[in-house]
Amino acid sequence: MSKNNLLLTNKPADKQAFRDIVIRTVDAILDSIGDTKAYAGLSPYDLKHAIHQEYILPESGIGFDNVLADLQRQILPNFLRTSSTDYMAHLHSPALIESIAAELIIAAFNQSMDSWDQAPVATEVEVEVIRALCDLYGFGANADGVFTSGGSQSNISALFYARDWYCNAKLTHDIKKSGLPDCYRKFRIYTSAISHFSSDKGAHLMGLGYDAVVKVPTDDKMRMDATALKQLIETDVRNGNIPICVVATVGTTDYGSIDPMTDIRRLCDQYGMWMHADAAYGSAVVLSGKYAERVADLHLCDSITVDFHKMFLLPISCSVILLKDGSRFSPTELHADYLNREEDTEDGYTNLVDKSLQTTRRFDALKVWISFRMRGRDGWAEIIDTCMDNAAYLYSRLTADKSFETVTAPQISSVVFRLAASDEVNKRVRRALIHQHGVVIGQTVHAGKTYLKFTLLNPLVTHEKLDGLLELIKSLG
Ligand SMILES: Cc1ncc(COP(=O)(O)O)c(C=O)c1O
Repeated sequence: MSKNNLLLTNKPADKQAFRDIVIRTVDAILDSIGDTKAYAGLSPYDLKHAIHQEYILPESGIGFDNVLADLQRQILPNFLRTSSTDYMAHLHSPALIESIAAELIIAAFNQSMDSWDQAPVATEVEVEVIRALCDLYGFGANADGVFTSGGSQSNISALFYARDWYCNAKLTHDIKKSGLPDCYRKFRIYTSAISHFSSDKGAHLMGLGYDAVVKVPTDDKMRMDATALKQLIETDVRNGNIPICVVATVGTTDYGSIDPMTDIRRLCDQYGMWMHADAAYGSAVVLSGKYAERVADLHLCDSITVDFHKMFLLPISCSVILLKDGSRFSPTELHADYLNREEDTEDGYTNLVDKSLQTTRRFDALKVWISFRMRGRDGWAEIIDTCMDNAAYLYSRLTADKSFETVTAPQISSVVFRLAASDEVNKRVRRALIHQHGVVIGQTVHAGKTYLKFTLLNPLVTHEKLDGLLELIKSLG
């Protein structure tokens, strides 16, 4: 085995190999972006054919030159381009340029966030970033948080902390030691009928099952109906069930709708429940210059999911779970002689694994650190306001045109609509956009009908672009 070109060491030859591979990779990326399309258009069959390789693991390595050539031929041209203004299908963002550089640093140093000795400066940076985020969401001095792999893990962690807190505080039962209490089948978690499915997955994982998740109807603005929530809780209590938590959504996946936070807080206080905000989408609105008021009630919650790989435009993965009372992270605290000794903490070494479901974990906090500091409040306000203004403009165009039907006015930056035509026509228009025009938009179902969706996370989208896309959809329809 050659000992050169293996790792990034202090040897000039290794540094040169690193520079060479990185620069040629950057050039290949840049060369692959020749047009503005979101997708080259290949069908699933053609794509399978195009990327087939006889040997993923050949007997002898083919070297970086050949691998790069294959990448350039087979993979780079067929990537979905999240930075394209023709991509607006999901809560899946383009990545800010500086955050791509941050990923290079993260990979180059490959810190692991579980223990201080695996990530000394990275640990201290994450602690600083978390402190700033707790301030940003009005959470106070006792709050704490940790980075996670995404909104699902943040939401599932919140349910886990909520369940353990409820059992400790209300039933004096320590789940960590003794497992679920006898009454666990009676636990109920409330969330709106259109919330993200991570609450169901979380309930399943925690041994409570989907039946523990009560789906609350939404009003005509696609927000949780607080009156219905109250009635469902009262019925459950009458039937001997035990309400433990409400998951409010601040930015639903399809509509960006925001649940009524003060009403939900009041009910949580009345029934002794934990209030979690799934703000995976809406958390970015806190940085808006014009619309931040829409998410000003986030501070009312016991926990918040913040996703940086959605409207904050940072690369996957990057998410945070914040708890207003940091001591409620105790369910994940577990000491191991080989990793996070108690004496470390006593001596001022922070082992972040104490707050996390993960052990090995990425240094995603660096992306926030770089991007927040580089762009500042002004830069961020411009990004968020542009996307939200675009959604308001799109909605005004749709409602003024009889060819389209809409559901509700956007609260953040996504708009659900359909051509006033059959489901089949709407579905075929979306497919034609992908394969004939390289335009990728969303599709969902509302009231049993197929709808189309623009999720506007790209601040480069203009009103003219939106007008053009609506004309194209009409002509295809
Ligand atoms: C409202 C909401 N919460 C949570 C999630 C899950 O986030 P992730 O995909 O990062 O796990 C999503 C994903 O789109 C979402 O829309």
